Amino acid sequence: MTLWIGTANHGFATYAMEELRRLFNEIKLNQLAPNEIFRMEVPQDREETLALLRQKEPIFLRHIQPVDRSLPIMGNADDLEALSELVRNSRLRCEHKRTAVHLRRADNSPFQYTAADTKLVLDAVLSEAGGEPSLQSPELILSIYAGAEELHVGWGTPEEQLSDWPGGAVRFQREDGQISRAKFKLLEAERAFKLDFATFKEALDIGAAPGGWTQLLLERGLYVTSVDPADLHPSLRQYPRLTYWKKNASEVKFQPEAFDLLVCDMSWSPMQMSKLVLEQIGALADGAAAIITVKLMHKKPLQTIRDVIAKLQTSFELKRAKQLFHNRDEITLYLVKK
Ligand SMILES: C[S@@+](CC[C@H](N)C(=O)[O-])C[C@H]1O[C@@H](n2cnc3c(N)ncnc32)[C@H](O)[C@@H]1O
Repeated sequence: MTLWIGTANHGFATYAMEELRRLFNEIKLNQLAPNEIFRMEVPQDREETLALLRQKEPIFLRHIQPVDRSLPIMGNADDLEALSELVRNSRLRCEHKRTAVHLRRADNSPFQYTAADTKLVLDAVLSEAGGEPSLQSPELILSIYAGAEELHVGWGTPEEQLSDWPGGAVRFQREDGQISRAKFKLLEAERAFKLDFATFKEALDIGAAPGGWTQLLLERGLYVTSVDPADLHPSLRQYPRLTYWKKNASEVKFQPEAFDLLVCDMSWSPMQMSKLVLEQIGALADGAAAIITVKLMHKKPLQTIRDVIAKLQTSFELKRAKQLFHNRDEITLYLVKK
């Protein structure tokens, strides 16, 4: 039997739990933070659990941490001492490894310390234990969830925890001249799906305005054709590699196999969006990648997602389907043209 703490975007934990129930027959689930963070108990051991999650990664599970130990919270400095002791006893695990300390706290937790304070103390202990305290690209993460009564502590790699950010809450720095927050969605998709947009040449962006996604692809050096009845941000005019069609996606037609990347963030009815994407299939080269957001407009997101994927799979192979941290009422698909 193993214990874990799972996290989904706020409001979506019920769907993550539904997916997990389908994956693990005898799973026990309890919510820790309403519709966001939950405790999960499975009969499988750690490796079996991780293997099942890898086989069919739940769309709405943003982050998962193992619970190797649970320590009662005293509400004073003894808590930091207990955590330090746990790290001191973990030399074998963390020796010579770039190790990050991630702390999250429930609103009602009596644990008194901030993430920064906890990290400061535990980084020093980690160094003494032969680890290499690190924030950037850690090999190992010590995850601590401070609940109402206990500190739930577990070690895991970023791959095992599905993210190298605390709770999977990916934070990007806002840049000067950034056109829209939507740009973060595409940046996160690039990282989450292990893509490098700079390796593509010609992108088609449908539903492009105001132009955050177009901006990112232009910055990566691609030629971009953007389609939207709404205006693109004027700052994008500086790019000679941009072609802009101020039209509805149903009104444009391109040369066969003109693009090796299609992106679509139309926030519109998912079935209509799928239809418009499929209408452009001839303009995509074989093996072209597609990054598409699917708006969850209905009460049954899992069914909506199944329907959209079934429709798109007529012409695409599905690589990943994930609700990213920057997705609101939507998920992101990564597909490849068959
Ligand atoms: C969420 S915004 C896209 C944001 C964009 N990804 C960015 O980074 O700035 C959705 C856009 O889809 C466009 N849209 C909706 N239906 C469309 C259609 N049938 N054809 C083309 N664009 C459409 C809307 O005009 C709107 O500008």
